[in-house]
Amino acid sequence: MPDESDFPSDVEVIKQRKKEGIIIPLTRNVQAKESSTYLEDVKLIHNALPEIDYDKIDISQKFLNHNFSAPIIIDSMTGGTPEATKINSRLSLVAEKFGLGMGLGSQRAGLLSSELSETYSIARSNAPSSFLVANIGGAQLSKGLKIQDIKKMIDMIEANALVVHLNPLQELIQPEGEPKYKGVLSKIKDICENFDIPIIVKEVGAGISMEVAKKLESAGVSAINIAGSGGTSWAGVEKLRAETAHDADKINLGELFWDWGIPTALSLMEVRNSVKLPLIASGGIRNGLEIAKCITLGANMCGMAFPFLKYASKSLESLCGFTNKTLTELKSTMFLVGSKNIAELSKSRFIVTGELAKVKKWIL
Ligand SMILES: Cc1cc2nc3c(=O)[nH]c(=O)nc-3n(C[C@H](O)[C@H](O)[C@H](O)COP(=O)(O)O)c2cc1C
Repeated sequence: MPDESDFPSDVEVIKQRKKEGIIIPLTRNVQAKESSTYLEDVKLIHNALPEIDYDKIDISQKFLNHNFSAPIIIDSMTGGTPEATKINSRLSLVAEKFGLGMGLGSQRAGLLSSELSETYSIARSNAPSSFLVANIGGAQLSKGLKIQDIKKMIDMIEANALVVHLNPLQELIQPEGEPKYKGVLSKIKDICENFDIPIIVKEVGAGISMEVAKKLESAGVSAINIAGSGGTSWAGVEKLRAETAHDADKINLGELFWDWGIPTALSLMEVRNSVKLPLIASGGIRNGLEIAKCITLGANMCGMAFPFLKYASKSLESLCGFTNKTLTELKSTMFLVGSKNIAELSKSRFIVTGELAKVKKWIL
């Protein structure tokens, strides 16, 4: 008969899951298959008379009272496994060097041991002046995560803001997932009342609808990250994990819902039209042109997860190279539409074509 030592401890199970959460996106293709962000349907208007000099373009942005050198957040990803330390170390060095924001991955694992807590806190050591965002799951809130524990997670990285991520699709397909969302909104409201740092609510790649955005605004959140579909598919990641677990039901659901969600451009447009809150656009954003498009659609900031992970896993040099390339693409777009700063870019004209134009009329 097996005794307790034959079973992996909670810590080992979580470390393994967090490791797979990095390795699978890096080694298997878990991007959207047949759906897209719809950002290809947003066309910015070329300005043949920009009347600005490229090297005078200012891409800095103020968001939640913090000054960013660019409207970019390295979206919430990892921590809780030794493999995350190197990734978070490189990402935070880049956040500090380029004046970007950075989200950490779900931090419950960091409460389990000091070894795991350091996989997150490395970010603050490397990025003393950056806007760092702590991360907890909505599902954990509904299970009764204590305010004291949330405070520890915030202190772990001396966070400037706290993200609550909503991931009902992932919980549904994850082999050990707990699709329990009853009471999450009232917990979010409690958190907004109990903490004095900004509370941001985000999806993880299935998007936020106008109905959800309005509820979040009423609950008192400070900002929303719409994290729409068209980029990394968490149904895809969990489907591949379900294959290893030989869980036929989850494999089926993962395949069926691989592309599920509200495409990023659509989610951003409908949320922008329904609430006044500052917004972060993310989900499948892959270059500076797409960042510019999201700003014109009403985003205050843009988040990218997978591209930063991909380059962070290679080297600090390649991560810096990718970041520089993205900033050049953003500035180039601003030159071509004649916007000398982000405020002007946010007011520049765009047209909507294709599938996005067809579906837009149903939601706006
Ligand atoms: C490796 C990896 C780990 C992630 N872990 C988290 C997480 O712990 N918490 C969270 O809120 N989002 C997490 N996400 C979701 C991202 O923040 C983002 O919403 C999503 O991946 C869509 O962005 P992308 O298409 O640029 O990857 C993770 C994404 C990746 C790629």
